[in-house]
Amino acid sequence: MEPLPLLIAVVLGLATTVSAGPAAVECWFVEDSGSLAKRPAALLLRQGPRGPPPRPDLDPKLYFKVDDPAGMLLAAFRRYPAGAPAPHCEMSRFIPFPASANWARGLIPQQNCPRALDGDWLLVSVSSTVFSLSVLLRPQPEPQREPDFTMATVVLTVLTHSPNPRIQLGKDAVLDLSFAYMPPTLEDALSPAAGPPPFGLEWRRQHRGKGHLLLAATPGLAGETPPAQEKAVAFAAWDDNEPWGPWTGNGTFWLPAVKPFQEGIYLATVHLPYLQGQVSLQLTVHKPPKVSLTPAPLVWAAPGETPPELLCLVSHFYPAAGLRVEWERRGGPEGGSGKAEGETWLSTVRHHSDGSVSQAGHLRLPPVTAKQHGARYACRVHHPSLPASGRSAEVTLEVAGLSGPSIEDSIGLFLSAFLLLGLIKALGWMAAYLTIHKDSKAKVTAASLDSKKSQ
Ligand SMILES: *[C@@H]1O[C@H](CO)[C@@H](O)[C@H](O)[C@H]1NC(C)=O
Repeated sequence: MEPLPLLIAVVLGLATTVSAGPAAVECWFVEDSGSLAKRPAALLLRQGPRGPPPRPDLDPKLYFKVDDPAGMLLAAFRRYPAGAPAPHCEMSRFIPFPASANWARGLIPQQNCPRALDGDWLLVSVSSTVFSLSVLLRPQPEPQREPDFTMATVVLTVLTHSPNPRIQLGKDAVLDLSFAYMPPTLEDALSPAAGPPPFGLEWRRQHRGKGHLLLAATPGLAGETPPAQEKAVAFAAWDDNEPWGPWTGNGTFWLPAVKPFQEGIYLATVHLPYLQGQVSLQLTVHKPPKVSLTPAPLVWAAPGETPPELLCLVSHFYPAAGLRVEWERRGGPEGGSGKAEGETWLSTVRHHSDGSVSQAGHLRLPPVTAKQHGARYACRVHHPSLPASGRSAEVTLEVAGLSGPSIEDSIGLFLSAFLLLGLIKALGWMAAYLTIHKDSKAKVTAASLDSKKSQ
């Protein structure tokens, strides 16, 4: 049995290449010097035994060999799926500045930016379908640089693995956020071992160009933070308390019972003294519809007549846009299936208090012939919340006539109906009799009571 081990080897081989992720990330260096200028840049995450592969196409000042002491950036890319579209990466210069919000004042006890933060800084933003992250990088000072590339150390990473959360209407949204920090040190000064620095966490929603603060937290710091909105909760903590970095932390955000008005861009910001990192997430809400057809499961018509209108009820879905109702004929005289003939239209939208909507599709069939007996009609509903094949409900057409129930069947039906009518009549009489009987009995008791009382 040769093929099996070979297959396993191949699968394992694939698995390792998949889990290794890209060795380098192509980026744009964006400079705002009057006009926006874009220059190609790259982040080298891994290298072979012979060192960084040469990149003559890049300015060595924009070819960065990444050192990531906390490992969060490298770990995120190591899990990057091979088939996923390439991430979008952009970088620009960054100047350390204190957080401007009042509630974040407690983060900066010193008046001046510490000397350890001197020098060049780069802000790198990476967005993809798999994650969204932002990184503050410190390139090595000019005199110590290599000729072909630039060493750069990751100081702060802010990362989410759910850049495009799709939440079902009424369910809770959990927007994950992690961050990692490696304090920069002066070359010749020992920084005191003091554990992770204080941090501030901020979650906002961007709506029509306006930011709306939902939650702010400065764990362990005195001072007032604005109250959380919309019952939002965040898990805001460092994962450990080691005296020396790097440290990782968790800023996962939880929003209960999501409604349509909460759709939008969410901005998560981690504030450290003079340093910030921010990622954006796009939250959308959806709800798949329930689909039913009336009349069901049968619709009757005589030859030459129009059957009753078919109504396809598409209820409690979100968003209102993107609904499509198709009518199909399945089976029938020619067999097979196809588009149903007849007049179709959609009713107006009905709004529900939870933000979902309902709508109905109508089908008016043309007059039927006996040959259409047994054909089934289905409405197929397409909506962004449903898989591509949609969701459907069907009804069977019964045509009274020759190819419908046979003469014998009709006689049988007639007789059964006749007998049933008789039975109903008989039951009716019996019921009437029983009621009268009970009534007279009741009257008798009442009368005897009366007579007892009068005694
Ligand atoms: C962050 O906290 C949330 C809530 O406790 C938890 O579910 C999640 O796994 C944590 N994330 C990490 C990366 O530890």
